[in-house]
Formats: sequence, C-alpha cells, structure tokens
Amino acid sequence: MASSRSPLDKIDIVEVVSSYIELRRVGNNFVARCPFHPDDTPSFYVSPSKGIFKCFGCGVGGDAVKFVSLYENIDYWEALEKLAKRYNIPLNVNRKSADDKLLLALQLVADFYHQELASSKPALQYLQSRGINSSTIKKFHLGFAGSVERLVNLLKREGLLEVYEKSGNILKAEKDLYHDLFRHRLVIPIRGVKGEVLAFGGRSLDGSHPKYINSPESEVFKKKSTLFGLYEAKEYIKEQEEVTLVEGYFDLMSLWQAGIRNCVAPLGTAFTEEHARLLSKFTKRVVLLYDGDEAGKKAVKSSVPHLLKVGMKVRVAYLPEGEDPDSLVKKDPQLLKNLLRSAPAVEVDLLEKVKRGQKGALEDLLHFCSYVPDSVARFDLLKEVAGVIGLPLADLQRRLVKVEIGREREEQPLSYPEVALLAFLYRFGFEGVSLEGLSLSPYALSLVEALRLQEYHLIPERIKNFKAENMHSVLIDSLKALSLPEVEVFRDFQHRREKSTSKPRKIRKRV
Ligand code: GTP
Ligand code: MN
Repeated sequence: MASSRSPLDKIDIVEVVSSYIELRRVGNNFVARCPFHPDDTPSFYVSPSKGIFKCFGCGVGGDAVKFVSLYENIDYWEALEKLAKRYNIPLNVNRKSADDKLLLALQLVADFYHQELASSKPALQYLQSRGINSSTIKKFHLGFAGSVERLVNLLKREGLLEVYEKSGNILKAEKDLYHDLFRHRLVIPIRGVKGEVLAFGGRSLDGSHPKYINSPESEVFKKKSTLFGLYEAKEYIKEQEEVTLVEGYFDLMSLWQAGIRNCVAPLGTAFTEEHARLLSKFTKRVVLLYDGDEAGKKAVKSSVPHLLKVGMKVRVAYLPEGEDPDSLVKKDPQLLKNLLRSAPAVEVDLLEKVKRGQKGALEDLLHFCSYVPDSVARFDLLKEVAGVIGLPLADLQRRLVKVEIGREREEQPLSYPEVALLAFLYRFGFEGVSLEGLSLSPYALSLVEALRLQEYHLIPERIKNFKAENMHSVLIDSLKALSLPEVEVFRDFQHRREKSTSKPRKIRKRV
C-alpha cells in the first residue's frame, strides 16, 4: 500500500526516548521521571500512538526530534539530522542555513584576530603583564582587533561580509565603511559546547571604558545559555566530576594556567537556570568560586537556587576580601587550591552561620532549602536545622512552606484544574481523596501542604472564592486533566458533598 505518511513517521518515539532514559509501560503509554526537571513522581509521558512526549510536571512536550534536541541541547535541525541518519531517512531539505554561514564567518574572524595578535605589541605586552603565556593564548585562541579594513576585505573575499554583519560585531557606518565593536581590544572568542565560535569578549588594553564589550546576542549567541570556557573545560569537568564556577575571563584563563581546568564563567551576566541545566549534563557537582566582595556574595545567592533546582550539589568557596581567583592564584596558588578542596556544601556553610547566630542565615537556609528537589534530603536538612536552633520541626516546616509559596507564586501560575482541585480540598478536606497519581506543579503541591497544615492564610483568594456552577463535574474534569492515565483517584464525591458544609471546619488563627 502506498502511504502518505511523512518519512519522519518512521521514527519510533519510544525507541528514541528509551535510548536516553528508562521508560516504563503503563497501559498504552510509557512513563518516566522527567529528565528536564527534578521529578519525584514520574510525570513524563510518551504516547507511541500520537508520537509525542509530554511532562505534566514542567509542561515540556513535543515529538521525537524535539526530545533529542532538548536532551542533547542541540537545535531542532541538528536533532533532525541525527535521527534521519539513524533511521536512514533521506532529508530533502538543504540545510546550508544562514546560521551555518554565520558560524563560518565567526570562525574566520576569530582566526583573523588571532593572527593579528602575533604582530600587536601592546596586546602581547598586556597579556604578558597579566601572566598569560603563549600556550594559553593558543588554547583560547586569543586575538587582537587591529585593522578593520583588512577584516572587511577578508570577509568580502570569502563572501561572508553581509552574513557577518548579522553578528552585530561590525556596524556599517556608510558605504564600505565599517566600525568594529572590538577595535583595539584584546579579543576572547566565546565558544559553544562543540567548539564553534559564537561570539567574542573584548577587553580594553588602555583602561578605556567599558572594560569589557561582549558581542550582542544574535541568531547563534544567547548569553543566558552560553558559558565561557565550557568547550575547553568539558573533558576536565567530566573527569573530575565537578565544575568550578568563576566570574571572569581572566579568572578562568589564570586558573587554567595553574592547572585548575574544570572552570566555566557566565558572560558578565547573571547565572541562569539555563546555564545550570547545561552544566548538569556534564556533572552534578559544582563549586562556586566568586569574588569575596558583596557582589560575589550576591552572585552566590542568586546562582545557588538554579543549581539546586536542576539537582546539583553545590559547594561554596569564599575568597579573601579584595581577591579574585586570578589575583589569588598568582599570589598563593596553594591557598586557592586548599580553598577549593575544603569548600563546604552550601547548606553546611549556612548551617554553621545559623549556629553562629549570623543575621539572615536562617532565612537564607530556608530559601535554599526550598529549592532542594529531593524531599528526603530536604527533610533531613530541616531536621538538622531544627536541632541546631532548638525549634520544633513542625515550625520550620511551616516556615518552609511559606517560603516555597512565596517564590513559587512568582514563578508558576496555577492551572485551572489545579485551582479547582485546591478549592475542593479547601472546602471539603482531604477525606476520601487520594492525590496519588496526580501531576501537580510544585506550587500547587506546596498549597496542598499548606492545606494539610491548615495554614489557610497562605491560600490565594481565588482558591478560597472559587465558584463553579457544578462543582462536581468541574472537579471530575480537573482530576481527569491532572491525573496520570489509568489511575483511579477519586471516589465517593457525591456522598461527601451531601454531608459536608461549604466552609473549612477549622480555621486556625495566626498569632
Ligand atoms: P579583569 O579586570 O580583566 O581581571 O576582569 P575581571 O575578570 O576581574 O572582571 P570583573 O571581576 O570586573 O568582572 C567579571 C566579568 O564581568 C568579566 O570577565 C566580564 O565578563 C564582565 N565584565 C566586567 N566588566 C564589564 C564591562 O564593563 N562590561 C561588560 N559587558 N562586562 C563586564
Ligand atoms: Mn580580575
């Protein structure tokens, strides 16, 4: 029979997904713990008949190609090509895309800058003054932005001038007259995971401002998902099963030279959840090695949640005030290595601070605690804190729920079925309802917890005021929407509705 199916239909999504993660059959579908967010219950579904996957926890979903692209952190096209190869599917689409040409142009420019460096005395002198040797210069393919005319001529010759303009690294002033963003700067190529040059950082050599200029974002360069040094460091990271996070280009290069090579740095911007997710593909352990100043401490505070969220173990090394890794590794490499080796886990560090009665430490600890995805680990930690400060565990749990709700509210809206279910629990209580087999967001789960603890003041008004003409059918629909397939979750509604009042029985007064 001739079929009108697309060649992509040959791809068996179950086969593809299970080559990455373990799937368990449940009826006609397959389930697993979601690989894209910390997942205690299996919220991740694969439907072979529809050829799609969907996570009811974090909402991610799509076809086999999308799965591969997310899992391997490659773009859709790359994933498609990969699968096409594996399944012997001819692809009629010609992918000599604009992106490819831009990458080609960026590599050409990086090579050009690198060659120019050899004859740029001021740049070489600068590197020497910062103790960067020639093998590091080679390794990081450092360069110098000298003559823009030669650069433009080269790009023209290769037919890549127009494409390169899309990087935003050069600007056309008027016909045949270009401005190079990195003019007279030391140029540091920023690579993607596979080594492709995506952008540049340029440091001023003469103290002119700004100190650094980075390439603007482009089709190929996204700051929030790019880490300087990752390409160079990734084998070391895997080998040492740990990554060290530093703030600056020179921190990273100096550490590299001193033999500390498992480092990455965000690009002068905040460390993001995407950075964390990217790192977690290489290792589950990270040490933060930030400056000892206030900014460094702030950076720790904002990075840790992202790292914990993706299931990483985080240690924190504090540098002496006034030092950055670059300065310290030159002054006293052994001290720096000791600091790295003995850096305590972030929760241990905070617990010590709580013990010492440091102001704000308990709040910080609860804040971090709320991001620990493993509920057993979270509970153990809380128990330990309770012991240290001599507060009942239940009190701390309540405080934690409050912290969780505070932050989740900002991060995640509730879905309609979640609101309906919570409204039901608020009105009628938990009796007879099994929440097992339901897929609820972390925020919804923390509200369930608040209801269990009868902390009604934490419940949003729209849940308390939820009204539906037919509460029964809304609830049934909601449970269906939230439930994992083939799990019976709800019994006996009619009976309980008859005997229930329409308000919670006990409202605790807060003191
Ligand atoms: P050096 O003075 O070269 O040692 O720089 P550093 O690495 O010690 O820089 P610093 O600690 O001041 O900043 C850390 C990182 O922030 C740098 O590596 C840059 O990525 C970024 N950064 C610093 N200054 C600037 C700036 O003026 N503009 C931009 N865009 N980024 C900057
Ligand atoms: Mn520095």
